[in-house]
Amino acid sequence: MKKVAIVGAGVMGSGIAYASVTAGYEVIVYDLNKEVLYNSQKQINTLFEKGLNRGKITEDEITLCKSRLKYTSEFTEIKADFILEAIVEKLDIKKELFKNLEAQNSPDCILATNTSSIPITQISRGLKFPNRVVGVHFFNPAHIMKLVEIIKGAATDNLIAEKAFNWANSLNKTAVYAQDSPGFIVNRVARHFYVESLKVLEENVTDFKTIDRLIESTGFKMGPFRLMDLIGVETNYSVTSSMYEQFGFDSKFRPSRIQKQKVDAGFHGRKSGRGFYSYEE
Ligand SMILES: NC(=O)c1ccc[n+]([C@@H]2O[C@H](COP(=O)([O-])OP(=O)(O)OC[C@H]3O[C@@H](n4cnc5c(N)ncnc54)[C@H](O)[C@@H]3O)[C@@H](O)[C@H]2O)c1
Repeated sequence: MKKVAIVGAGVMGSGIAYASVTAGYEVIVYDLNKEVLYNSQKQINTLFEKGLNRGKITEDEITLCKSRLKYTSEFTEIKADFILEAIVEKLDIKKELFKNLEAQNSPDCILATNTSSIPITQISRGLKFPNRVVGVHFFNPAHIMKLVEIIKGAATDNLIAEKAFNWANSLNKTAVYAQDSPGFIVNRVARHFYVESLKVLEENVTDFKTIDRLIESTGFKMGPFRLMDLIGVETNYSVTSSMYEQFGFDSKFRPSRIQKQKVDAGFHGRKSGRGFYSYEE
């Protein structure tokens, strides 16, 4: 595998593109939104600068990496050996994307999804080659976090999963296999970090800043509300809703009305300038 395409250049796409290009791959970064694409390029350049200042990358390596990077909002240019989608957490939109990607790529191309919660089996259903769809789930911030979950859907070939596993490891990540079960491993365990904290807030036990302060004082880098703002409040809400449904509406996964209200208001966290906290200058 030489050529990688990252579809969706938002919170996750940029970090994954950075990790891929610095590992030696040619990388196409695509987003349908030109402003997001422009911001992604700015963010990736900032990561190069930070890497240079920390002595992790040289000027020559940066020049080489930049020559291997291509930013585009032209869908027909997404042609690669390995395509990873990091678009909105909505089943229908992901399915439509893969159908269109399948039509313009060779049958050998691997289609990977960074979904946090949607079953790989559902995403691949109806495609011409569902055997080449695999879950490759990164964590935020993707250029730093080591763990990557590799998920085989019911139709995924073992060889495809193995190639995805090796690709993730070639990015200097630690890949682990997970079953195609709701939330895979990490999101299933971590869901209660958010859901229970939101319940504490709903019940007026205390305010969100106190919950964050308390959790951070125990050694967590970020409390649940700061972390939801980093992840994207609407993305986190979609993941909880999807898991709630997949676990047969088990109340322990019930999405919070406080979180829903933030989503409705467009308070999506850092990326929108406001979430639980405000980020406006
Ligand atoms: N945010 C996180 O912490 C996190 C962590 C792990 C996995 N994920 C998963 O990664 C995926 C992306 O999440 P994100 O937080 O980066 O989202 P985001 O909203 O920051 O970015 C998504 C991008 O996809 C683009 N997009 C939407 N529809 C598209 C389409 N049809 N074609 C091309 N581009 C399209 C949007 O313009 C947007 O820029 C989701 O599936 C999410 O569950 C997110």
